[in-house]
Amino acid sequence: MPRARALLEVEGLTVRYQVAGEPVEALRGIDLRLNAGDSLGLVGRSGSGKSSLGLALMGLLPPSASLGGRLFLDGEDLLTLSSAARRERCGRVVAMVFQEPAMALNPVMRIQAQVVEALRRRQGWQRKDEKDGVEESLEQVGLPAEIGAAYPHQLSGGQRQRVLIAMAIAPRPRLLIADEPTTALDVLTEAGILELLLTLRRSLGIAVLMVSHDLRAVGRLCARALVLDGGRVVGERPLGELIEEAALNG
Ligand SMILES: Nc1ncnc2c1ncn2[C@@H]1O[C@H](COP(=O)(O)OP(=O)(O)OP(=O)(O)O)[C@@H](O)[C@H]1O
Ligand SMILES: [Mg+2]
Repeated sequence: MPRARALLEVEGLTVRYQVAGEPVEALRGIDLRLNAGDSLGLVGRSGSGKSSLGLALMGLLPPSASLGGRLFLDGEDLLTLSSAARRERCGRVVAMVFQEPAMALNPVMRIQAQVVEALRRRQGWQRKDEKDGVEESLEQVGLPAEIGAAYPHQLSGGQRQRVLIAMAIAPRPRLLIADEPTTALDVLTEAGILELLLTLRRSLGIAVLMVSHDLRAVGRLCARALVLDGGRVVGERPLGELIEEAALNG
């Protein structure tokens, strides 16, 4: 029977790692549904499984990890595909921004070359559009074109994170998974990055899944969040409520 189409639908997702021959259950049956253009936070203490969920969606779990349940992207069950096919399918639709911008960039490649690699994954991309594409991508995240000639170490942490966001959205994904995108940044830089993500979400209509233990950061982008604990969803709550509760308890 055809399914009503959500952009992303996860049913009973489980992730199990092997550590020294022993299983570690990182996710114990997660259900979630995200419509096109929607945003959802994913919060919970360290080790609750937030990153494992993002990595599972991206097909980026280590080979030793095993995955169960069902995972639909645009109504297609991704877990029936090989992990290579899943990465290929996800690569165009889903993008991820990680916590540590210094680690995610290649230190010996100029920024423009790294942005071009990301642009190549855009549907209908043509080589002759390279120069304009790089400039446009940088402009979209508030960076001047000259940044393209720089190497990652010549940029500030905030600028590097902007480059990574430019690369994430270059293939025109419909879902952006941001895993602690501002945790490594100072408060002012963090505010700028959150503002940028919010603007992009609004102008491009990208759905956002934002992973963080920082409720206020999540609250800038998402109205509601799934609360994870021990690999399970223990609630889906408005961010305002979660922030108020945390203030009372802390
Ligand atoms: N590559 C791995 N190999 C083995 N165990 C792992 C691996 N990655 C995560 N785990 C374990 O899976 C569980 C969930 O980890 P995960 O990184 O998903 O949590 P998290 O909520 O993102 O935590 P944090 O807030 O610290 O980033 C933890 O018990 C963790 O130790
Ligand atoms: Mg994590």
